[in-house]
Order: sequence, then structure tokens, then C-alpha cells
Amino acid sequence: MTRVVLVTGANRGIGRELARWLDVTDPASVEQVAAELGSLHGRLDVLVNNAAVHYDTWQRATTADLEVVREALEVNLLGAWQTSLTLLPLLRQSRHGRIVNLSSEAGSLASMDGGPPAYNVSKAALNALTRMLAGELRRDRILVNAVCPGWVATDMGGPGGRPVAEGAARVLWAVDLPDDGPTGGFFRDGRPVPW
Ligand SMILES: NC(=O)c1ccc[n+]([C@@H]2O[C@H](COP(=O)([O-])OP(=O)(O)OC[C@H]3O[C@@H](n4cnc5c(N)ncnc54)[C@H](OP(=O)(O)O)[C@@H]3O)[C@@H](O)[C@H]2O)c1
Repeated sequence: MTRVVLVTGANRGIGRELARWLDVTDPASVEQVAAELGSLHGRLDVLVNNAAVHYDTWQRATTADLEVVREALEVNLLGAWQTSLTLLPLLRQSRHGRIVNLSSEAGSLASMDGGPPAYNVSKAALNALTRMLAGELRRDRILVNAVCPGWVATDMGGPGGRPVAEGAARVLWAVDLPDDGPTGGFFRDGRPVPW
């Protein structure tokens, strides 16, 4: 059977390689997509929370413009959270539900020591959300994981990173997990990353 997969932030970068558009900070837009998916397919098999902003290498926690931090949290954390909540009823209709959150090793508390503050804090928060959703959705057999695609040569990553297709392939690993695959994990290249 073909799978119904929704990728947020898909008009460029890694998301484009994976597919489809919506504004994750606009609840009406997310609800519209849910309504369309509901009437077309009656279910959603995989949600990829890919959309993100503000890899703010130009600032540090000690100098941060909190408006930039707010915007990052709005998209990178709350956008993913809102999208997941709105689409949960459709994910519960799937026999193989998956939520894949595009995270980054920059959000790992284990190695965090300064760095882009808005981005790092938003990804650490997304990792926390991943853990909580995984725990609460275990009974629905929906697997929820955070995945770092590595450094990828997109608008966000800049030149020098992996080709976009290679970054997307690392994300597909979590999209394609078998039913007995892991949940509540943080992975890069299919291997666990320290939180
Ligand atoms: N590139 C890397 O090296 C790298 C490394 C680790 C993790 N990641 C993660 O991988 C994911 C994809 O990154 P990328 O490198 O492909 O980034 P990108 O090239 O900057 O693309 C980001 C995508 O997110 C979309 N987006 C931003 N705000 C949105 C919103 N409110 N609603 C819907 N879509 C929105 C953008 O759409 P617009 O064109 O409309 O702005 C764009 O399509 C992100 O979560 C990022 O944090 C990337």
C-alpha cells in the first residue's frame, strides 16, 4: 500500500527533496492541510517536521536578540508541535504512524557550549518534545524520533556540507522504520546521538 507522507517546509532544502508545503505557524493553514488529507486519504502515515528558521551563527546567548529567539521557537518548536497536534487524529488512523522531527546535533545538551543561541535552544526543546510525544504515543504505536541530517549544503547549511539528496536520505531512514523500530530516540546516520 502507498504511504501518505507530509513534509513541512518543502519548497527548498532538505524538505523539497522529501516534498509539500504549509506555514506551520499558521494554525488555519495546518488545519486546511489536515482537512485535505482527511478527505483524500482518511489517514496520515508519516509527518516530517522539517520546517525551521534562524541558524543564528551571528549571535551568542550573551548578546542574543530575543526577538530572533522567539521566532525560532515559534517555527522550530511550536510549529512542529502545532502541526503534530492537528494531524494526530489522522496519524492515529494509520497502522504505521511515524513522526520525524528534523533536529540537529547543535541541540544536543551533551555537547552544547555556546553557539547559535536561538537555533540551539529551539532544537533542544524540539528534542524534549520528541521524547514526550514518543512516550505518550507509544500506546498508539506511533514512532516518534528526532533526526539530525548532518551538515547539508542548503540555504541554511551553506556551501561545503553534504549534498541535499544525501541529507534527505538520512531522514528517510526514520520515515522507513519498521513497526518494531525505535521511538523516542535522537539519531544521525542511523546511530544514536547523545541528548
Ligand atoms: N542544512 C543543515 O546543515 C542542517 C543540519 C542540521 C539540521 N538541519 C535541519 O533540517 C531541516 C531542513 O533544513 P534545510 O537546511 O533544508 O533548511 P532551509 O534550506 O533553510 O529550508 C527551510 C525550509 O523551512 C521552510 N520554513 C521556514 N519557516 C516556515 C514556516 N513557518 N512554515 C512552513 N515552512 C517554513 C522554508 O520555507 P521558505 O522558503 O518559505 O522560507 C524552507 O522550505 C531544518 O529543521 C534544519 O534545522 C539542517
